[in-house]
Amino acid sequence: MKIVMLGAPGAGKGTQADKIAEKYHIPHISTGDIFRANIKNGTELGKKAKAYMDAGGLVPDELTVDLVLDRVKQDDCKDGYILDGFPRTIPQAEAFTAALEKENENVDYAIDVEVPDENIVKRMGGRRSCPNCGATYHIEYIPPKQEGICDNCGETLVLRNDDKPETVQNRLKVYHESTQPLIDFYKELGALRTVDGTQSMQDVFDNIIAILEG
Ligand code: AP5
Ligand code: MG
Repeated sequence: MKIVMLGAPGAGKGTQADKIAEKYHIPHISTGDIFRANIKNGTELGKKAKAYMDAGGLVPDELTVDLVLDRVKQDDCKDGYILDGFPRTIPQAEAFTAALEKENENVDYAIDVEVPDENIVKRMGGRRSCPNCGATYHIEYIPPKQEGICDNCGETLVLRNDDKPETVQNRLKVYHESTQPLIDFYKELGALRTVDGTQSMQDVFDNIIAILEG
């Protein structure tokens, strides 16, 4: 099963992708997490990506597409995977679709998690992320068991660099310009499914499972 998560920054793609990955034992591949790990480790890729990410812009397609095409060729992806944050532009989606078609494969579901812009800014300000394992919390809606500490690995949680309100506004603008057109792209491929992302985390998850098992 190959799944693409669509939706604005802060819509809950990462939160849901984690739960889907756990249920179906397929890898959760988040390009944002991959870039953040590269920044943390000081790699060349991380150095190139950092300025774009901190400004709320997009990392150039040429740095992103090959990274994902290499990742999905790995062994743990043979029964499927869930992509979170990729594709994010029409050229990325075209390159990815073409690469899949070469192998006679396709995306089974592109799940668009719909959340209006007004809700997004509030979610981002309250988000806390684990710099070690990538787990995501919300101080009000989805708090960790112990304040400021990751449930999974015990690391101290942080506010992401790009979650400042002015950067969030730019990320939303970039989303509407560059990423929202993917909704029509996957509709034309017959893979698009939409869920109401303003519901509780569990209700969103139940909706997604109903789609995947429907
Ligand atoms: P990325 O890490 O992908 O960020 P994003 O798309 O902006 O999405 P977020 O991770 O911010 O949100 P999310 O939808 O995962 O929401 P979450 O589950 O955390 O990318 C970061 C940057 O990397 C980009 O800006 C770009 O620069 C670069 N990049 C990455 N991929 C790229 C690509 N393909 N091409 C070019 N550049 C790329 O939830 C948000 C908050 O809400 C959390 O606090 C969560 O706990 C809470 N929450 C979740 N669900 C609910 C709910 N139902 N009710 C209440 N609260 C909820
Ligand atoms: Mg995310």
